[in-house]
Amino acid sequence: MSDRIHTLSGYIHEYQRSVNDPEEFWARIADSFHWQKRWDKVVEWDFDKPDVKWFTNAKLNITENIFERHLYTLGDKPAIIWEPNDPNEENRIITYKELYQMTNQFANAMKSNGVGKGDRVIIYMPMIPEAAVAMLACARIGAVHSIVFAGFSSTALADRINDCTAKMVLTSDGNFRGAKSIPVKAVVDEALEKTTTVEKVIVYQRTKEEVTMKSGRDIWWHDAISDQPEEYKAEVMDTEDMLFVLYTSGSTGKPKGVVHTCGGYMVFTKYTFENVFQYSPGDIYWCTADVGWITGHSYIVYGPLLAGATTIMFEGVPTFPDAGRFWAIIDKYKVNQFYTAPTAIRALQAYGTEPIAPYKLDSLKVIGSVGEPINEEAWHWYHSHIGKGKCPVVDTWWQTETGGIMISPIAGVTPTKPSYATLPLPGVQPVIVDAEGKELKGNSVEGNLCIKYPWPGMIRTTYGDHDRCKQTYFSTFKGMYFTGDGAKRDEDGYYRILGRVDDVMNISGHRMGTAEVENAINEHPKVIESAVVGFPHDIKGQGIYAYVICDMEGRSEDNLIGEIRETVNKIIGPIAKPDKIQIVPGLPKTRSGKIMRRILRKIASKDTGNMGDISTLLNPEVVEAIIKNAK
Ligand code: WTA
Repeated sequence: MSDRIHTLSGYIHEYQRSVNDPEEFWARIADSFHWQKRWDKVVEWDFDKPDVKWFTNAKLNITENIFERHLYTLGDKPAIIWEPNDPNEENRIITYKELYQMTNQFANAMKSNGVGKGDRVIIYMPMIPEAAVAMLACARIGAVHSIVFAGFSSTALADRINDCTAKMVLTSDGNFRGAKSIPVKAVVDEALEKTTTVEKVIVYQRTKEEVTMKSGRDIWWHDAISDQPEEYKAEVMDTEDMLFVLYTSGSTGKPKGVVHTCGGYMVFTKYTFENVFQYSPGDIYWCTADVGWITGHSYIVYGPLLAGATTIMFEGVPTFPDAGRFWAIIDKYKVNQFYTAPTAIRALQAYGTEPIAPYKLDSLKVIGSVGEPINEEAWHWYHSHIGKGKCPVVDTWWQTETGGIMISPIAGVTPTKPSYATLPLPGVQPVIVDAEGKELKGNSVEGNLCIKYPWPGMIRTTYGDHDRCKQTYFSTFKGMYFTGDGAKRDEDGYYRILGRVDDVMNISGHRMGTAEVENAINEHPKVIESAVVGFPHDIKGQGIYAYVICDMEGRSEDNLIGEIRETVNKIIGPIAKPDKIQIVPGLPKTRSGKIMRRILRKIASKDTGNMGDISTLLNPEVVEAIIKNAK
């Protein structure tokens, strides 16, 4: 663990070193991994194309760095502790050796069912260890996994299957969430009616509810692995071969497949995991994210397992059977590092401190936050009531596209400041630029957050559409990666993320494009036009506010609103359901026909005191009408 930073002066030294000579810095970190062949060059890059390569021509398999590397020393150590949704069901503790065997067995099963290197495999599964096994087995055979969060609808699933032309889907019969059991396989069946590329579906039996199995296509997981050997020689991958695709929302209607590759992602996730959380051998680490999001990829599965850590996977929800569930789990396993989202913190904060009272929480050393800005009140509550005032709060800023944590305190090493992500990790070079792309140097500045030098975990392309990657991230400001976030650097040089500056909302830490929700709303036959904006929401951070022009003939407003909400549920999934839908007579537009979202955002956030000059609008009168009936 020579790459671990232990002191503030150590951080300053490492940071300087990483900026002065990034290649030397990352080569040293990468040296501690197992490569089948070493690299010829550390980094080659051109942000205009964009074309970024890390550890050129190196060969490796990321799973060898999880298994072969740890088996002698950590074979009997728990790799995954799985806590079921129902606290009365037995948990599962899976050692490194067992996880290795399960991965190999499943790798063989996938191979026998026609999947090989480079093929895309969709994983649409609940939070069970087999979801991690599925990821690792793909990586072992060189297949590219693309996880779709199991809360997405069949339409959203079908779009992703089609976009990456997946050959196989890995799924389960159902999913236990709180008091409910949710069908999963049935959603896959529906999705597959709209796709043509999937040849095989492997189904893990979790809830034992009845599902239809299509003969020739669908196979039970337990049948697929029976008789499969527990050995599989890892495929040799090029450092820049794809490891996975993960779809994320942007400012257009269609989610894009963010592509991560093998070598750089491996180096970056392990390095950031060990440093930010100050993980020490023997610690028990728990991240509450879902594997369907990047946080689950990098900080439930890859980062912790590469570091030989014990990582907890929790199937359930924070409020089942009661609002003390998180705290019960922390005490049960003596969790040392706990990583969750502000939306969960705020939701639990709303229950008061009573649900926390029965628990000690004294094993905690570090508590973390990710996914959205954490407001000061939630930060303090988390720090005092969960961290008992003694655990550093690591407010980690990063994105699906960055692969791993970029700006964050290093627990106990660098300072924290409520609602600030604070300082960049070594190897990360953030800049703040103005609207013209001019770098704002010095402190006490505010603007657009960009990164001016490549880092190993960064996005390489958007699947099947490289130009989209270029347009979205590398064209707004020349020669830089643009994050889409606004940020301020305060008088001490600490970064505070101010939220998205584009048309992307952040709902309970989940990214959702306004255009994506609008497209879904517009599918309702009575909808003529819609405009969606985010608004401040006490628990979710942001809520979704939809302004909709409808053909009202013969219809009641309440009915229509309910139907529109259901349409969105069906097309995207429950996370995209608007919190508020207002039927409006028109939308404020410029003379060139562009919807003035600025005005709609103000109305949605009840900030109608100063609407600015609206006289140049095509239809200023509509603003009054909208304000009058605002929800
Ligand atoms: C936001 C999640 C403030 C930000 C890892 C970013 C944050 C988007 C923070 C990425 C944070 C994430 N403070 N905002 N600590 N972390 N964000 O791709 O707007 O799901 O651009 O990745 O979440 O969301 P994504």
